[in-house]
Amino acid sequence: ATKGEFLYEGKAKQIYATNNPNQVIIHYKDDATAFNAEKKGSVQDKGVLNNEITTLIFNYLESQGIKTHFIEKLNEREQLCEKVTILPLEVIVRNVIAGSMAKRLDIEEGTKPSNTIFEICYKRDDLGDPLINDDHAVALGAATYEELEHMYKVTAKINDLLKEHFLKEDIILVDFKIEFGKNSEGEIVLADEISPDTCRFWDKNTMKKLDKDRFRRDLGDVREAYVEILSRLTK
Ligand code: C5P
Repeated sequence: ATKGEFLYEGKAKQIYATNNPNQVIIHYKDDATAFNAEKKGSVQDKGVLNNEITTLIFNYLESQGIKTHFIEKLNEREQLCEKVTILPLEVIVRNVIAGSMAKRLDIEEGTKPSNTIFEICYKRDDLGDPLINDDHAVALGAATYEELEHMYKVTAKINDLLKEHFLKEDIILVDFKIEFGKNSEGEIVLADEISPDTCRFWDKNTMKKLDKDRFRRDLGDVREAYVEILSRLTK
């Protein structure tokens, strides 16, 4: 693939066209943001680490039958992906209560619910990505009920696969966010990234946070946490 024109810049990634109209190159940056970009910074080599971590996770999910936009890793910071139209939804799964749910409902972080919690948020920076339900998503034209049903099914499978995959490395998958996109055939596939930027990972033995909460909460050792996740996935 030959890198073409710059198409789009998000908070952590840039997207470039390629010579193939159905493919894009995704470039991972070191920029870090939190709280709807109120907090800004950068983590040295985060782009390199998240590109590699996302590559390992997407390859694993593909091997287990999950359809994704991922084609191949091109170099340290770039991957070749299928061009998709991202649905304006963030799908969040919670296995342990933390973050915004702990705060919003006044539940102690670390509480284990008896069920798995699925949330959807409307991707709109100016609104702070508000929590919505299926009826809102359909009314907004973000997805159809059938598409939502498909996304929840795939998301549940991804959660089962990743929970087990990480637990083998003594990591608790507390929660995570994924995004879906529609490819040129109209198929809905897993897109975006899965990394310590988009998941909460707690060490099973020490309960140490190994994710972006170290940046959000100024806990230090941010880069080291991402390196630790990568090293456990490759050991
Ligand atoms: O902040 P909250 O507790 O709702 O986040 C739940 C999960 O979704 C966390 O793993 C967080 O990293 C991820 N998330 C994300 N992007 C957002 C919001 C949440 O990756 N815009």
